[in-house]
Amino acid sequence: MHKLVITGGARLKGEIPVSGAKNAALPILCASLLSAEPLVLENVPALEDVATTLKLLRQMGVAVERDGSTVRLDASRLDNPVAPYDLVKTMRASILVLCPLVARTGRARVSLPGGCAIGARPVDQHIKGLELMGAKVRIEHGDIVAEAGGPEGKLRGARIVTDLVTVTGTENLMMAAVLADGDTVIENAAREPEVVDLAECLIAMGARISGAGTDRLLISGVPTLKGATHRVMPDRIETGTYLTAVAAAGGDVTLTGVRSDTLDAVLQKLGETGAWIEIGADRATIRIVADRRPHAVNIRTAPYPAFPTDMQAQIMALNCIAEGTGVVTETIFENRFMHAQELLRMGASIDIEGNTAVVTGVARLAGAHVMATDLRASASLVIAGLVAEGETVIDRIYHLDRGYDGLEQKLAAVGAQVMRRR
Ligand code: EPZ
Repeated sequence: MHKLVITGGARLKGEIPVSGAKNAALPILCASLLSAEPLVLENVPALEDVATTLKLLRQMGVAVERDGSTVRLDASRLDNPVAPYDLVKTMRASILVLCPLVARTGRARVSLPGGCAIGARPVDQHIKGLELMGAKVRIEHGDIVAEAGGPEGKLRGARIVTDLVTVTGTENLMMAAVLADGDTVIENAAREPEVVDLAECLIAMGARISGAGTDRLLISGVPTLKGATHRVMPDRIETGTYLTAVAAAGGDVTLTGVRSDTLDAVLQKLGETGAWIEIGADRATIRIVADRRPHAVNIRTAPYPAFPTDMQAQIMALNCIAEGTGVVTETIFENRFMHAQELLRMGASIDIEGNTAVVTGVARLAGAHVMATDLRASASLVIAGLVAEGETVIDRIYHLDRGYDGLEQKLAAVGAQVMRRR
């Protein structure tokens, strides 16, 4: 199992290019199932979760060609609308094939995703929406088995109000609705930029969608979708992660290829830490005065446009070495503080009460042997390693490889002392 070895203390200086967004690429790859014509995607990040999704699509019959960050998907022959347990268990986002398969083929068998480290993460809202669109859905030996109920195996438009804001739930139901008979309204829809990016790709394929980015989506079903070319949006969480690393470690770094309009809550919070940040059309420069500790900040995670839960662990790491006390409240997932246990082993001062963590900044963390538990927890430990005294060894960094494209190369290029070891 690979490890990351980080020697802390270096200030970071230079440029980091940001990759395509994992959480936009995954639903958009699954959107290829909706058309018999090729979908060409640019700026697809080189991530484990992308590789898993491509493997899943291939075993359904999708022809996949990859040339660097460009991927060509041809779903003209779909002969196996099944997502098996051995793939779904490694990546919950596999649930995103459920609705495209039912919309395109009239049926699907998708292994019910189990829980994961950060929470139970049920998919009841995905199923509820499908049933409102006329599908018959049952659970059989751990699989979701769904059949479109309408004539010639088609879904019908419906009014759906999700019980809570769900990102992949919104994305799945939008993909169900684009080929349904009639109009669908999704109320209480997720407003995340990745939902908007998926909508833009579907519209390029001929879908009729309005309201993307608001909490009310209106989709008018069309008989078929055509092929298209779409460029995946930049990853706002990767951008926020590197900005937070510089805010914690100090330095002067410019991130290129960013979409800063998707990061308002994060940029605002980093400004409160005392960081100087300059925003350009597609770049963001962060500069930290030498030998100045960041100010601690309070964050409360919530659906977009509020502070993203995927940035919570990274800000907690910054708070560990900040001046003052920062309160971190996690409202989306029930168990997303596992990084705290590892940060405590590095000398952090964190008191956890339910979904709230009170972090009292200390002057220095001490390098230690720590273990990654989930994707963003891993990023948090990387940031802690960059600022800690001495060497930090992070185990189980396969979690990191799921969501960060070339992290150690990008950090080493701006002066971090980080390397991968078997
Ligand atoms: C997406 O997960 C992201 N993943 C997550 O990013 C992100 O943390 C999350 O949205 C919240 O922003 C992808 O986009 C691939 P939800 P998702 O459905 O869609 C509950 C990362 O680090 N819920 O918005 O699975 C759920 O348990 C990953 O990149 C139900 O109860 O999250 C959670 O408490 C981690 N029933 C809340 O809603 C449902 O049917 C929000 O979950 C669906 C969700």
